[in-house]
Amino acid sequence: MKILFVCLGNICRSPTAEAVFRAVAARDAPELTVEVDSAGTARYHIGAAPDRRTIDAAHRRGYDLSPLRARVVEPDDFERFDLILAMDRENLRALQRLASAHTRDRVKLFLEFAPDAGVTEVPDPYYGGPNGFEEVLDLIEAASHGLLQYLRQRVRAA
Ligand code: 4NP
Repeated sequence: MKILFVCLGNICRSPTAEAVFRAVAARDAPELTVEVDSAGTARYHIGAAPDRRTIDAAHRRGYDLSPLRARVVEPDDFERFDLILAMDRENLRALQRLASAHTRDRVKLFLEFAPDAGVTEVPDPYYGGPNGFEEVLDLIEAASHGLLQYLRQRVRAA
């Protein structure tokens, strides 16, 4: 199973999702073979490390984002990945425009996997205060557990 997480800059939300989901899957579902990556729909930060505040907030919960570097979504991603999970509706729409007819149903909102979260989008923390980074982590941890449940069911049904 190959999963791509997508936000705008690929320096806050989607690298967090990449690292958190990778860690949760390795710990809770070592029987699943998952490949995880992240990308942005905007080009501003290509090649950059994640935002310092994002690295620090994730580090406090035991996730290491420091090796990650930002990249932009490429046309080939829609062929390579089984699921392409957007952090918010703006990025969902951008992805749906880039996808072809036969890959469009691979694109979903990540928080579909956290139906009890009370929100359907991971808010952009870039221009907000420190609480935003904690909220991003809370939502991403919840959706990572939900995504793992969904993948386990898919494997069982296959
Ligand atoms: P991200 O956050 O999409 O979660 O990586 C942002 C990072 C940078 C900008 C916006 C959002 N920016 O406008 O530069």
